[in-house]
Amino acid sequence: MTAIAPPPLDELDITSESLYDDRGGYPWADWDRMRAEDPVHWYQRPGYEPFWSLTRYEDIAWVARNPELYSCRERVAVETPDEVDSWETERERRGQVYGHRPDHAPGLGFMDAPMHRQLRQVMYPSFTPKALAAQELRLSALAKTYVDDFVRLLDTNGTADVAHQLSARLPLAAIFDLLGVPDSDWDTLFGLHQATAAAFHKDFAHQDGQDATATFLRAMMELDAYMSELVRKRMADGGGNGTDMLSRLAAATVNDEPLAFHDISYQLFNLLQAGNGTTRNAIAGGIKALLENPDQLRLLVDHPELVDSAVEEILRWTSVAVVMTRTATQDTELGGKRIRRGDTVATWFPAANRDPVAFPDPYRFDITRTPNRHFAFGGFGEHRCIGANLAKLELRVMFRALLPLLPRLRLEGESKMLILRLLMAEYVTLPVSRVR
Ligand code: HEM
Repeated sequence: MTAIAPPPLDELDITSESLYDDRGGYPWADWDRMRAEDPVHWYQRPGYEPFWSLTRYEDIAWVARNPELYSCRERVAVETPDEVDSWETERERRGQVYGHRPDHAPGLGFMDAPMHRQLRQVMYPSFTPKALAAQELRLSALAKTYVDDFVRLLDTNGTADVAHQLSARLPLAAIFDLLGVPDSDWDTLFGLHQATAAAFHKDFAHQDGQDATATFLRAMMELDAYMSELVRKRMADGGGNGTDMLSRLAAATVNDEPLAFHDISYQLFNLLQAGNGTTRNAIAGGIKALLENPDQLRLLVDHPELVDSAVEEILRWTSVAVVMTRTATQDTELGGKRIRRGDTVATWFPAANRDPVAFPDPYRFDITRTPNRHFAFGGFGEHRCIGANLAKLELRVMFRALLPLLPRLRLEGESKMLILRLLMAEYVTLPVSRVR
């Protein structure tokens, strides 16, 4: 029998969302091949804007640490030409609605210095370990409540779905707590936020009998109206000496000017988009990883003091943020390749998190792994996830609350994970049952 030769590198497909669905997850083998054979690979395929594909830890770190060479202003995602067009139209529309230039950055992740640094300084005090210590008790109590509710569901039905019935609540609660949103409104906002994210993928598109665009637009309008009202109220009292994020933004001055209404609103949406699904899917993926690795679960149950280290490994293992891009600001060199000004550079975070140079035995899930300087939150540059400490706190309190339950759970049936616009892994379903 003749062995089938692997396809040439130029034919590997790591961008079709459908392929991710068919494979049931990330293209680990393809990323490994790219990292080994051509770690800075010019990726030009029909249907996508071409880009340099980076799969090696050290190259991704270099891009993250040199923001003056690699800018966030042009685009931050791998996109199809249609997506590029619709993003440009959306920027124009926002400029007209809010009276700013179309290239005005709609959130931290789309900004370069100096504006980026100034705004981060305003927001970061809410994310320091000291500031978050005040949230820990509240979040621990919430995590326990959500786990108790989940146990009741398991008792009643025998099975329950982690993706729908457990992992989603805490990340949302944490962000609304951070922003200062009244808790009576959390449920409504949760539904709207889910609808905006869900509309990105075909499997959700016709869920309520509407097409994806209609679902997305309706939910966006309602969310927008709610958030706008919240921002206006907080701006009217100049932040009211509050310490929540909205109050900080309402009281802030950048370049001696108070922040405009649209700037505050953009940050809120950014926090919602960036902090909710990511943490939700890291929780779901962490539960799956522990149930699939019973030796590591046993170790954690016997040594709950390992929870911080387990959280780091869960973040590395799940790597829920898939790819982000930068644009070269000048001709430069990377991994021996000549990068031209204006080229797009794509950093595949999960691929960096399986780089054997940075992580010995990278495909082993090891809750004692040390060191574990993973790139789940980006490559340690100035755009590194501002919510990293909050996300870790959420995972810590959630897994502490889950510890008594986990050894009595087992994965049940098929789980399904989608990749939303190549940005994020999304568990659509993760059924579990309780062992009696
Ligand atoms: C497990 C959970 C999370 C993961 C895996 C994650 C991942 C990431 C990644 C990969 C980036 C891009 C870094 C870069 O460009 O180098 C990022 C940026 C960001 N994240 Fe997170 N994130 C998580 C949770 C959160 C939370 C809880 C919040 C806030 C509530 C948040 C808010 C942001 C913001 C605002 C940015 C843009 C930062 C900047 O450009 O300065 N994220 N995140």
